[in-house]
Amino acid sequence: MRSTRRALAAVVGAAVLLVASACGTGEDDDSTASKVEVFTWWAEGGEKAGLDALVSRFTTACPGKEFTSGVVPGGAGVNAKQVLNARLQQNDPPDVFQVHAGAELLDHIDAGQIKDLTSEFSSWGLTGALPEGLVETITVNGRLWSVPAGVHRANVVWTNDQVLAESGILTAPKTLDDFIANLGKLRRDGIESPLALGRDWTQLMLLESVLISDLGPKKFTGLFTGATKWEGKAVRAAIDDYAKILDFTNADRDSLDWPEAERLLIDGKAGYQLMGDWLAADLAANNFSGYDSFTFPGNGKAFQWLADSFALTTGAPNPAGGACWLQTVASPEGQQAFNAEKGSIPARTDAPTTGFSDYQLKASADWKSGVAVPSCAHGSACSQPWQNAANAAIGAFSASGATAIDKAALQSALAAAAKQFIRQA
Ligand code: GAL
Repeated sequence: MRSTRRALAAVVGAAVLLVASACGTGEDDDSTASKVEVFTWWAEGGEKAGLDALVSRFTTACPGKEFTSGVVPGGAGVNAKQVLNARLQQNDPPDVFQVHAGAELLDHIDAGQIKDLTSEFSSWGLTGALPEGLVETITVNGRLWSVPAGVHRANVVWTNDQVLAESGILTAPKTLDDFIANLGKLRRDGIESPLALGRDWTQLMLLESVLISDLGPKKFTGLFTGATKWEGKAVRAAIDDYAKILDFTNADRDSLDWPEAERLLIDGKAGYQLMGDWLAADLAANNFSGYDSFTFPGNGKAFQWLADSFALTTGAPNPAGGACWLQTVASPEGQQAFNAEKGSIPARTDAPTTGFSDYQLKASADWKSGVAVPSCAHGSACSQPWQNAANAAIGAFSASGATAIDKAALQSALAAAAKQFIRQA
């Protein structure tokens, strides 16, 4: 692939020689190369709409540079991350890749796979433009490693209003018990799977939301820093609550990705789905408007965040092109265009909010006033190996009979993963 790209660069090189590059890392690379491979898992629906908006800004802002999509579908990057790691190991890197801000960056930094972007941050106008907490999570060893494009909220429940109304459920449940009571009511009224759920990582999201309700935001966050124990009664009580809720989900959950679980909601086969707020953009792409949303019951003001960001590979075939992509992502215009379509909110605090939905404006206010908690399923709290271990444990639990022995096994697998992978960043 590298040689194909280099050959192509040579062919088009002469044509673009006269085009002044708006961007560049200031390094001694082939800044006239045109193709820029951007590796993501955003293949369709609201995710692709967000990516397309960014591509359109890139085309305007980076004349002579041509976006090439390195896309590997699969929610939360389950497939993409494997392909990316194989390519990085085989020395066949894309120019830039999508990665979550936070702990998910650590292994890439350790392996020397991504470039230090500290000096570009100031030349791209990012200094002072991002919330301090977010800057902290992308700072490792005092350096900055990725450009955040937007912030999503994970702990949101989405509804099918008609299904709920038919059971007389007209308000959002306030507590976990109210939520479980509503799930029971829906089932008694003939909705076999009141809560739509998908495979492992979506199950981890559900467990994380239950943990936030049962432990509170501070102790929940402590699970990933070592301040809160995974062993003991508090986490066990949350696993008991999780198992109760799991009982109200679709039996084929392990074989569904999030858009397939979303289909159950749209088709009225479920009344609720817990999913990050990229769901809103996807519901819009599916022309479904009969929904509402609320923060997971009992989560209070907790805003479980994750940030989509982009990193530049050290072996990028076209580093100047990759840098121009990142500069587009960093710009207020790029952030507005991307987030308006993707359903997230800009990472920059000064990006325009033109075209944002009421939900996004509310999310933006909640992001400022809420209590930020990180997500393991989406890399802000956990490194990649830790996330893989947590996904394996929760997937095994889903396939089990959820007996007391299975619950104990889930808890000890989660505790073992924390012990093995916890790092002082
Ligand atoms: C998250 C990602 C979101 C969305 C979601 C579902 O990990 O940050 O942007 O794409 O996965 O695929």
